[in-house]
Amino acid sequence: MHIRPATPADLDRVHAIYTYHLVHGTGSWEYEPPDRAAMASRYEAVVAGGYPYLVAEESGEVLGYTYASAFRPRIGYRFTCEDSIYVAPDVQRRGIARALLTELIARCTGIGLRQMLAVIGDSENAASIGLHRALGFTLQADVAGLGWKFARSLGWVLMQRPLATAPLPPPVLDIRPEDPASASAQALLWGLTAELLSMDGDRGENGKGAVTLGDLRAPESVFLVARLDDQPAGCGALRPLEPGVGEVKRMYTTPWARGRGVAGAVLAALEEHAQARGYSALRLETGDRQVAANRVYARAGYRRIPCYGQYAARSWSQCYEKRLG
Ligand SMILES: CC(C)(COP(=O)(O)OP(=O)(O)OC[C@H]1O[C@@H](n2cnc3c(N)ncnc32)[C@H](O)[C@@H]1OP(=O)(O)O)[C@@H](O)C(=O)NCCC(=O)NCCS
Repeated sequence: MHIRPATPADLDRVHAIYTYHLVHGTGSWEYEPPDRAAMASRYEAVVAGGYPYLVAEESGEVLGYTYASAFRPRIGYRFTCEDSIYVAPDVQRRGIARALLTELIARCTGIGLRQMLAVIGDSENAASIGLHRALGFTLQADVAGLGWKFARSLGWVLMQRPLATAPLPPPVLDIRPEDPASASAQALLWGLTAELLSMDGDRGENGKGAVTLGDLRAPESVFLVARLDDQPAGCGALRPLEPGVGEVKRMYTTPWARGRGVAGAVLAALEEHAQARGYSALRLETGDRQVAANRVYARAGYRRIPCYGQYAARSWSQCYEKRLG
């Protein structure tokens, strides 16, 4: 017997094994077998998702199969997979599932997945629970009454096995222009508004700044959204202030992403846009209670200047300028 990746040619036998267990057992909670084409689409979806799909073969015959798939579709579950495993009824208890699952675990670990779950239909499925326990899974949940098959109620068991444990590489920071009316941009601006209000609401600050959405839009302005680890994490805008001078507005980093260089990188990206527009300087205003912001601007080479325009009359405003090389 040897374990190898499944090919479309194996699917007749895979279909037959699955259909047998569907009709006779409680491992799957489907009632009617999928047709052969549906079985092929399921196989293709697993392979297209980059997950392993393996068969155990002996003398040219497929005796069992296993595959991994996403535990749940949302991206936050991306490092967690779920296994499925079925062995033909006449060759059970010969170590075929053990060999299949051992290889599946190795391959899933190899592609960086960090957790494998066994979602076992039927708390009385001693074979599946025993198999997973033998391969290092531990019981996490045993919930009564979640399923209904063979005209009776079934319990549901969740077992878990850690896979890769190596530290993940540092998260990637991606900064690009985006419409300030986009859903992500609006949520970031909402966070900024709420925070400014909580800091300076007692001074009459409404958190919205002296800008409208129109002031932040292309082509006159550029609005940047930073994504850290694929998640909206910060923003910043550049708008024209006076000939040759741009103004930085709406700088914000979400609390979870702070301390990771997001604001500094957004400022650097805005400076590139400013230079491309031929600006020789950038100005900005912040408040005296925005300690972190003041530190970011000073560290990025911005120098304090007397407050300009409408800010001249605000005792708590702090204005900065950076000459662009
Ligand atoms: C679960 C299943 C895949 C096990 O296949 P298998 O090839 O017979 O399993 P193995 O021979 O590799 O057994 C490996 C270990 O699992 C455990 N195990 C397997 N069958 C068992 C059973 N009936 N009772 C208790 N433990 C069992 C044992 O620890 C066994 O090691 P051991 O034989 O040295 O004691 C098989 O019974 C099956 O296809 N069941 C129907 C489909 C199903 O329920 N799939 C899981 C859906 S969640």
